[in-house]
Amino acid sequence: MAKSKSKYVCQNCGYETVKWLGKCPGCGSFNTLEEEVVSAPSKVRGIGIQSSSKPQRLKEIMPVNEGRATTGMGELDRVLGGGLVEGSLTLIGGDPGIGKSTLLLQICSELGKQGKNILYVSGEESPQQVKLRADRLNISSENIKLLSETNIGVIDNCILNEEPDFIIIDSIQTMYTEEAASAPGSVTQVRETTAKLMNISKGRGISVMIVGHVTKDGSIAGPRVLEHMVDTVLYFEGDKTASYRILRAVKNRFGGTNEIGVFEMGNDGLKEILNPSAYMLSDRPLDVPGTAITCSMEGTRPLLIEVQSLVSYTTFNMPRRMATGTDFNRVVIIIAVLEKRAGLQLSSYDSYINITGGIKVAEPAIDAAVAVAIASSYRNVPVNSDTLILGEIGLTGELRAVSMAEKRVQEAQKMGFKTCIVPKANYKEASRVEGIKIVCAGNVDELLEIAL
Ligand code: TYD
Ligand code: MG
Repeated sequence: MAKSKSKYVCQNCGYETVKWLGKCPGCGSFNTLEEEVVSAPSKVRGIGIQSSSKPQRLKEIMPVNEGRATTGMGELDRVLGGGLVEGSLTLIGGDPGIGKSTLLLQICSELGKQGKNILYVSGEESPQQVKLRADRLNISSENIKLLSETNIGVIDNCILNEEPDFIIIDSIQTMYTEEAASAPGSVTQVRETTAKLMNISKGRGISVMIVGHVTKDGSIAGPRVLEHMVDTVLYFEGDKTASYRILRAVKNRFGGTNEIGVFEMGNDGLKEILNPSAYMLSDRPLDVPGTAITCSMEGTRPLLIEVQSLVSYTTFNMPRRMATGTDFNRVVIIIAVLEKRAGLQLSSYDSYINITGGIKVAEPAIDAAVAVAIASSYRNVPVNSDTLILGEIGLTGELRAVSMAEKRVQEAQKMGFKTCIVPKANYKEASRVEGIKIVCAGNVDELLEIAL
C-alpha cells in the first residue's frame, strides 16, 4: 500500500522541507511553513506537452502557424504578442478589484462574437454576480456559459462535455483537487490544479486564462512555480484609486516581454488608451521645482513619465529616503553620486521620489531625470517644462548611454517637447530626430548646469 508522507511547504516562496522550521530558509520569513500530507501517487504523471521518444532533426520539424484570435482590444493584443494564441495558458495577476474579471469578461464578449464557445468558471462569484457585471458591460453573447465550481475534477468533466474553445478560471486560489489534502490556495493545491489545467490546455488545444491574486509584496499568491508553468504572465499595475490600469507582459512565450497596454476603467468597463504618454503627463504641474520628465521604454513602446521629488530639511541624524515606482537602491546610489560628484548636501535632507501614475519603472535610463528632480527640489529651481531628460548615471558621476535613444527622442518631439538632454554617447543618434533641440551632457555636474 502506498504510504502517505508529510512535508512542510513555505506558503510564501514555495520552499519545501521534510521537517518543520520556524524560519523559512528560502525567503527568511517566519511561521510560513505549513504541513502538507502527500499521498504517494500510484504513478508519476508528466505535465505539459506530449513527449515523443524519438529525437527529431531541428531542420525537419515543420513549423506550425499558431492560430491567434484577436481580443477586440488592440492594446491587449499587443501585450499578448499579436492576439490570443490557441491552446495557450495565460496567467493574469493583480490586486483584488483592479479589473481582472472585467477584462476577462470583455475578452469573452469579443471571442463570443467571433463564434467561439466560452466557459467562464468562477470560484469566487455566483453566476448572478457575473451576470450583473456582464449587464453593466452590455455583454449578451449566446456563446458564453458560466460555471460556479471549485473542484477541478468536476470542471474537467464539464469541459469534456461542453468542448469550449476558451476557458476562464477565476481564480486559481479558489480551485482544488481531491488528490491533494491541503486547503485551496495553498502551494500544493495551486500547483496541482494549474498542472491539470495545463494538461487540459495543451492536450486539447484549448486556450485557458487563469486569474491569480497578488500578495502584499507583489508576487502572485502562493508559488512562483505558477509562473514557470504557464506560457504567458500578465500583471495589472496601477493605482487602484486612479482610473487607468497598466497591463504588463512579464513573461510571454509568444511575444516580447515588458510590453504594456494602458487601459482606463470607466462605467462600462475597460477602454484602451491610445496615447498613453499624453495620458501620463495630462495633469503634471508646470514650472514647479521637483519634477522632471523622461522617457522609459516599456517593451517596444516609448512612454513619457514624470519623476517627482521632494527634498526637505531634517533635524534627524538619519535622513529618510523613499522611492515609489522605481528601485529604492538605485535612488540611494543617485543621491550618493549627487552628494559626492555634484556637491549637494543631501545627508541632512529627507528625499522622496515618486514616479507618477502608479507605473513601475526599472530602467536605468531614468537615472538622470531622478537626479535632476532631486536637485531641482533641493535648489528650489524648476526644470523647463518642455525639456526631456535621458541618461543612466554611473558611480563616478558620468552620464552613460541609453538604448533606443532615437525612439525616445521621437516620442518627446511628438509630444511637443522642445529640448532633450542626452548623454554624450547618444548625441549622434538623438540628433537624427528633427524639430527638437538636442543638448548633451557628459556628467552629473554638466547635467545639472544645463537642466537647472
Ligand atoms: P473586477 O474586475 O471585479 O476586479 P478583480 O476581478 O481584479 O478583483 O473589478 C472591480 C472594480 O472595477 C470594482 O471596484 C468596480 C470597478 N468597475 C468599474 O469601475 N466599471 C465597470 O464597468 C466594472 C465592471 C467594474
Ligand atoms: Mg474578480
